[in-house]
This record gives sequence, C-alpha cells and structure tokens, in this order.
Amino acid sequence: MKTPKLRALFCLGVLSGTVYACPLAAESTHDAWLRYAPIDRTAREKYASLPAAVVVLGDSPMLGTAQGELIRGVRSMLGKTLRAEKNLPREKAVVLGTLASIQSIVPGLSASSPLGEEGFWLTAENLHGFRCLIVTAMTDRGVLYGVFALLSKIARDEDISALNEVQQPNARLRWVDQWDNLDGGIERGYGGRSIFFEDGGVRADFTRVREYARLLASIGVNGCAINNVNANPRFLEEDFLPQLARIADVFREWGIRIAVSIDLSSPKVIGGLDTFDPLDPRLIQWWREKANNIYRRIPNFGGFVVKADSEGQPGPSTYGRTPADAANAIARALKPHGGIVFYRAFVYDHHLNWQDPKSDRARAAYDIFQPLDGEFEDNVIIQIKHGPIDFQVREPVSPLFGGLRHTNVAMELQITQEYTGQQRHLCFLPSMWREVLDFDLRLNRDRTLVKDVVSGKTFRPPMGGLVGVANVGMDASWLGHPLAMANLYGFGRLSWNPDLSPRTIAEEWTRLTFGNDPAVVSTLSEMQVNSWRVYEGYTGPLGLQTLTDILGSHYGPGVESSERNGWGQWHRADHEGVGMDRTVATGTGYVGQYSLPVAKMYESSESTPDEVLLFFHHVPYTYVLKSGKTVIQHIYDSHYEGAERAAQYVHHWKSLRGLIDEQRYSDVLARLEYQAGHAIVWRDAVCNWFFRASGIPDAKHRVGNYPDRVEAEAMQLANYSIVDVVPWENSSGGKAIECVQPRGCTASFRFTRDAGSYEIDIAYFDQNNGDSSFRVFVGDQLVDEWVANDTLPARKIGGDSSTRRRIRGLALRKGDKIRIVGIPDREEHAPLDYVEIDPSPE
Ligand code: GCU
Repeated sequence: MKTPKLRALFCLGVLSGTVYACPLAAESTHDAWLRYAPIDRTAREKYASLPAAVVVLGDSPMLGTAQGELIRGVRSMLGKTLRAEKNLPREKAVVLGTLASIQSIVPGLSASSPLGEEGFWLTAENLHGFRCLIVTAMTDRGVLYGVFALLSKIARDEDISALNEVQQPNARLRWVDQWDNLDGGIERGYGGRSIFFEDGGVRADFTRVREYARLLASIGVNGCAINNVNANPRFLEEDFLPQLARIADVFREWGIRIAVSIDLSSPKVIGGLDTFDPLDPRLIQWWREKANNIYRRIPNFGGFVVKADSEGQPGPSTYGRTPADAANAIARALKPHGGIVFYRAFVYDHHLNWQDPKSDRARAAYDIFQPLDGEFEDNVIIQIKHGPIDFQVREPVSPLFGGLRHTNVAMELQITQEYTGQQRHLCFLPSMWREVLDFDLRLNRDRTLVKDVVSGKTFRPPMGGLVGVANVGMDASWLGHPLAMANLYGFGRLSWNPDLSPRTIAEEWTRLTFGNDPAVVSTLSEMQVNSWRVYEGYTGPLGLQTLTDILGSHYGPGVESSERNGWGQWHRADHEGVGMDRTVATGTGYVGQYSLPVAKMYESSESTPDEVLLFFHHVPYTYVLKSGKTVIQHIYDSHYEGAERAAQYVHHWKSLRGLIDEQRYSDVLARLEYQAGHAIVWRDAVCNWFFRASGIPDAKHRVGNYPDRVEAEAMQLANYSIVDVVPWENSSGGKAIECVQPRGCTASFRFTRDAGSYEIDIAYFDQNNGDSSFRVFVGDQLVDEWVANDTLPARKIGGDSSTRRRIRGLALRKGDKIRIVGIPDREEHAPLDYVEIDPSPE
C-alpha cells in the first residue's frame, strides 16, 4: 500500500512521468459521519487562527471524552495536534467547561439565551487578555455536544471565526432502541450481527460498542435500549447484571444511558413467583429489589422498555389489569433511582376477524390507552409508533398523540428500514418523519403540531421525545447500505431540532460522510430527499401501506398477504375497488379518534389527501383523484414513475465517479443497480395484480405488455422445468423455470431483431439457500457468467429473491442464439424468470 504522500506523487505523475486520474483511497465506513477527513489546503486557511491549546476546566470522564474528541478531530482534519492543558495558558486556547467553571474565571459571562440542561454555547471571549474559543454548557454532556458541533462545522467548511451560537435540544428523550438478541441476531436488523451480544452473552470485544456510542453522542442521542422488545427474561437475571454494567460503562463515557427491554412475566419465569399480576404485592417487591440491584451496578441506568399484550408477549391482560397497572408497578420501583418505563402503545389483537367490516387494528392503541390518560406515573412514557399500524411506507399520524394530554409521550420511529427496503433500497426517512412531526392535530381547533406534543411543549408533561429503532450491526457500514446511515444521522438531528429540513439534514450528512465537493453534495442530497416518495411510488401509493409480504420478510411485493388474516393490515382490494373504510359514518369509526377538524377532513374522500386516501376510504378503481387521474391509473403511473426514478439513481451516482473513493463508490453502485432491478419487480407485481383485480387496462398500455421480454418458460429448455410461482404476480407471467439436474440445464432462444448493440437483463431468483451459477452464451461465445450469491431474505422463488443481471453493450445480430446455462447449488435450482433486451443507450 502506498503512503498518502507517495500516492500523491504517483497521481501527479511525478514518479511515473504520466498524468492520470488517481482513485481516492478506500475509506473505513466505521466512522460514518465522524470520519474527519483532511481538509484541503485553501479551506484549511480558514481555520489558521484556531488556538494551539485546549484547556478543560474540570476532570470528569465526559469532559475527558470531549477533549479527546476535539484533539482527534482537529488533528485529522487540520493536521494540528492541540496541546492538552489543565489550566488556562498565557496564550489563546480552546476552552471546554461548564458555564459555572468558566464563570469562575470570567464572572458574569452568560449566553444570550438559556442553555437548558443539555444545550451548549459556542463563543469567542477574551480570557486573561487572550481571545479564546469557548465551548460551554450547563452540564458536561452539553460540553460534549458542543465539541461535536464545533467539529462538524469545521468538517463542513463553515466559518468559525465569529462564533456566538446557542443550541438546545427540542426534547429531553432522544433514544435509540436496538432489537438485539442474546444469540447475536437482530430482529428486523439488516446490518449484520449484534454489536453487543453473541452466543448467549455480551461480546468480549467492545470496539464497535464504543464506536456506536460515539456516533450516537455526536448527534445528541442520550439513551439506548440494547435488546429486542420481544424480550428475553435472561436480561434481568442476577448473574447477567454485571454484563449489562459493562455496556453501561462504555456508553456512560459518551453521556448515554442504557435501558433494557423486559418480559413482564419475568417475576414468574425467572423470579420463582407463581404470578406476574402487577397488583400483587409480591410483584411490587420483586421489581423493587430488581431495580435496587441494577442501580447498585449501573447508577445511571435508564429504565425498562415494555412490550406487553402484543404479538404474543405476555401482559397485564392475563390478570384483567390495564397497561397503567403494569407500567406503574414497575415505574414505582424505578422512580427513586431516576429510571423510566417506556411502555409501548403497540398493543393490538393479531387475531382480528377480517370478515367484520367494523374491526380495525388501527383503532387499537387509542382505544386501549386514551381512557388511561392521567393514570400513569410521571416516570412512565407511552412510546407510540408514528402511525396507527406499523411503520408502513405511508400512514397517517397516530391519533393517540392527541389523546394523551396528562401523560408523557414519545414517538417511536423506525430507522431500520423494515418495511421500506431493508437497506437494500435507498429510502431517506427524515422526509417522512418531518411530515409526521409537522402534522397539525388541531386539538381544540388550535394549531397543535405533533412535534410540539412529543417534545412536551403542548401539554407540558415532565418528559417527551423521540425513540428510533436503529438496529445497527457489525456490518462495516453499520446498517448494511452506506447511504442508509443518513437515516440514523437524520433521526438524531430531528430529535435535536425538528425544524431542520430534510435537505439540510441530507446536505450535512453528505458533507460529513463524502466531503464538500459541490457536485457530490447536490447530487447525493437530491437523491436522498426524494427517495422516500420514490420508494412509496413503486411499492404502496395512496395510503395502501407497503403492499409487501407481511407474513414473512416484509420485503418484496406480496399484495394479498395482508388480506383475509387476523393481522389487520388489510387494504380490502376486490374487483370493484380498494381501500379500508375507516369513516365514522359507514366504516370502522377510526376517523373519530382525531380531533373534530382533522376527523372532518378524513371523513370525506373529497377532503382526504390523495396520499392517504385508501387508508381511510374504500373507493372504486375509477374514482377520480385530485390530480384528475383515476385510482387505477394512478397505481399504474406511480409504479412506472417510481421504477424509472429508481433507475435514474444509478446514472446520478455514476456522475460522481472519481469524487468518491472507489470502495464506497462501487458498494453503493451495486446496491443502486440492484434497487433499480427490484423496483421493476415491485412495479410489475403490483400493476399486474391490480390489472387482474380491476380488469381495467393501463391507458398507456404498459401493464401486461412487455414486447422486449422473452419469458423463460417460452424458451427452448434442456433439462429445465417450468414451475408456477406463488403468488403469481411475483414472477413475470406467473411462471419460472428451475433446474434440478446437478450438471446443469439450458434455456435458449433466437434473437429476432436488427443487428446492433443491446443491453440484456436476465431476471433470475437468488435464494439464500444455495449459490447457483449462470453462464450466458451468444452462439458459442461466453459473454457473461456469475454466481447467484447475494444475501436476499428468501429461501424460495418469489418477490424477495427476484433480481437481475445486466449485460451491457452486447453486439447482437438477427438469428443469434442466446443460451443461458444454469447450474444449481443445494436448494437453489438456478431459477430464471425472463430475459429483456433493449437497445443500448447512446
Ligand atoms: C413489527 C415487527 C416486529 C416487532 C414489532 C414491534 O411488527 O415486524 O418484528 O417485534 O414491530 O414493534 O414490537
């Protein structure tokens, strides 16, 4: 490996005598937005006056962390090693410390606006006659946040010469949840194994845990619940507590408290009691002792997350008790120590009667929790998913945010893209979150923005905030897709300041992660900010929800999987129309859970915004939207436009070649190419399903017409056999071909068009239970070969495993024989769907 200096000489051609473009060195993705890349020489001059020393007033571990971070960042970006001082030197310095400690040097120094418990102030002042750069706050944690803010400014090329800036977080609770299991797996995690656990215990090596804590602190996150909400009682066993304490110790250095998810039946399962009735005095005693034992080891322990009476988790309903009974029993045990109960409002019956037109899962949270308003202890937070169903690509805001006026609430968002592409598709969620946070609940007919309710500004409960289900893993890029980290970054930034625009967040993140080149910043931010709507476009528009396989992976298309079962994610599509009638007049009455003005808007299809129309109303396919299009034509158009826009990401990204290091460039490119192909799988599945259901053709004649496509089942087959695909819409023509001959099978056809250069897409299925290989010949010439070894969430042929291989610039003549040889491996039988041939773009 060449040293950077040598590399530079090579790139300038000094050593080789030639001039050529030099690829940027591969970068580690562990540091994510904290990579502190060296700043170029001209920009560096801007920071020439930065002092040479850093003084910390105080000796707490967190201030030590802040000082270390500042030295690390400045060294890495500006090539200067700040001198660490204990006392003010007789020269200018960067000064870190609480306001109280700084006031002991400069009495009377105060910020123009209050700092709050976790806010900070960046300013320049004369201390003992020297102009110093001051990072101060009421608490050590605030100082740490201030240091990160200062470093972020330098990394983003901002001017820091005349700083006088106060920032305060919008809400007290800015937590992430990890759904990690003790065996190292992560529920709905798409970024590899757990950073905390393996083989039933806590990992020995905490490198990634420390790196994660640092990333979280840099965006102002102050808490982390470390295990799956479908909790394992083992977390509360006495001999496990020292392991928890190890994690807590690492997080504490970065100002982050940990919490654990608990199983409410733990007193019975591991505690030896014969009940877990929350009102039984023995239970109360059990929780009290448990809390005492935990706090003895982890003095800043955050508390417990509770998922109860939900999706099979035990809960108070077993004893006819309410969520308030259960939450309060535990909250009282935590209260003397400052602990919190995050009681999740995700409580619903998943055995609903789908034949009952009045039954509606969306109603559950409000029906259960609203009547309990005011009954919860003040250290209980009701943690409410942003929508009434479950992190779908689009849902209305949960009406429960308007129903709890005397109770702490937090909004639960999902950073891990369970229903939004699982980090294989680009989907920048701050765009969605900003809409949710800005929604006006219009309580008492006044403007009541959701962001003000969850921050506590509206009803003034003691606590409130945002919780993001992050699920990072051991993957080098944490979430599996290098661009997905923008969602974690955006979550932190919005919980700090919900007024930041998605574009500002995307630009900040791009600058920090990929540098300040204007083309990179504008191209990538543009891709990010639109990507949620693009994903919605080719999955579930008009409030249909994601239209994914809800009974399995929650990933690929599965239009009917949500219908006719007890899970209640129905969209009730039939031959005449589609959508759930949730009105008060004729439907489930869900609309009545909103305030009068909001209910009025949703009660009528005319005033319901198109993007959630089918969430609230059952309408005929010919219903005309505000756009002037019919519902069915909108479904077709939106899927075609969405897939087209996903394909454009590849071109946008390619325009950045040479401006991004080759490793990250090619990793992202591979994901975007895959997404472009999978968006077509989605488009075709959903459009064909609705075409068959409605019988109404696409006005633009695209749906069901694929003139450039040759179906695998229509090719000449040697050893391959034709299989029906279930559900039919997840393969082209409802069929595919499979090879069970270990030596391989062949599918061939003649090319019938004029000679020219063509792009060939081979649509095939890549399961995770085998690595089949494919070879493509034109005549006798091998033109491509590959192994189907991607790690898609599928063990069978279908919408999850459907993918494609693109062969570019292939010279073909009329009559050429195109032959695909598939060799199966284990349970994957070299399955093929179709081949599509298009002229190469100019
Ligand atoms: C979703 C998800 C589950 C998870 C649940 C929850 O339904 O698919 O895996 O346990 O949400 O939030 O509790």
